[in-house]
Amino acid sequence: MAMTPQTGKPRAKARFTDRLTKSAARNIFYGGSLFFLVVFIALVAHSHYYIRTTSTDESKLSPSVVAGKHVWEKHSCINCHTILGEGAYFAPELGNVWVRYGGREDAASAREALKAWMQAMPSNVEGRRQMPQFNLTDQELDELIDFLEWTSTINTQGWPPTPAG
Ligand code: HEC
Repeated sequence: MAMTPQTGKPRAKARFTDRLTKSAARNIFYGGSLFFLVVFIALVAHSHYYIRTTSTDESKLSPSVVAGKHVWEKHSCINCHTILGEGAYFAPELGNVWVRYGGREDAASAREALKAWMQAMPSNVEGRRQMPQFNLTDQELDELIDFLEWTSTINTQGWPPTPAG
């Protein structure tokens, strides 16, 4: 135990600087910063790799899916809808609409039902929220549905927590 030279009594507390020299503090600072920078870069690289190979299926990202995303953006569907929980909460979640319409069991019927739905809007039912008529071509509708089908295959690890977004 450290003794004070004048009194020979134990010091109440060892001072911080007794144990930690300036250069040790500097090494901890630089070493720690470098360590966490490396961890951060590794996590970013892992997320990027995981997103491209595991959570989204890049191999099924066809030109039609890409075109469908452009239709989606051009008409700002997200101003009313959410997709994977992101967007506006005025209209139903669409990240899972393909599954909700039975696309996994019967793809052709789900496609027809989704097209018919969009073509029949607005419903003009009193008291019901309305979706506008976008007058999309048959090709645009197919592309949109390809986009929604592809989106439904993204592994979101259970997000959003409810089917309603
Ligand atoms: C102005 C708001 C608004 C915009 C913009 C909008 N929608 Fe909708 N959409 C709605 C509403 C409201 C409903 C639900 C209507 C109902 O249940 O009667 C709906 C329902 C749907 C449904 C059926 C969902 C289900 O669960 O049955 C689909 C599919 C859909 N929209 C696709 C689209 C697409 C694709 C776009 C962009 C091209 C779009 N919507 C833009 C308001 C909107």
